[in-house]
Amino acid sequence: MPAILVLNGPNLNLLGTREPATYGSATLADVERLCAERARERGFTLDFRQSNHEGVLVDAIHEAGRGFQAGGVAGVVINAGAYTHTSIALHDAVRAVEVPVIEVHISNVHARESFRHHSWLSPVAAGVIVGLGIDGYLLAIDALARRHAAR
Ligand code: DQA
Repeated sequence: MPAILVLNGPNLNLLGTREPATYGSATLADVERLCAERARERGFTLDFRQSNHEGVLVDAIHEAGRGFQAGGVAGVVINAGAYTHTSIALHDAVRAVEVPVIEVHISNVHARESFRHHSWLSPVAAGVIVGLGIDGYLLAIDALARRHAAR
């Protein structure tokens, strides 16, 4: 069974207690459980990670790229948190690999502060899902599963 990598960036470890009016009350552990269920239903294993460190996220994308080449990874779902809006390194990492990467944001970043309107990931992502809460992660897994089946 190929894997889907779900990568979470800075501050997402605080999900559930961090600004619940914006991000909801589900914890990252809840998101992981739901993603694992959905991945299993679609015939994939789940590799779920969170890091507050930009380079760790870059390394994980490279690793997924190698896994994709070897046939063991179907795709990446990334909520890069604030690095979305700042990180040319993440942009370059996604550009450098062939594995499809879907960008997810829990909140509707376009309805928030203007500094959240630009994403360095969107131009290199296979798709973008914003503002649908944690369902966005599950929709992204569905999209990667369809993409994988169509290969
Ligand atoms: C976020 C939106 C980002 O602007 C913010 O920095 C986050 C979470 C979201 O999921 O809505 O950390 O990516």
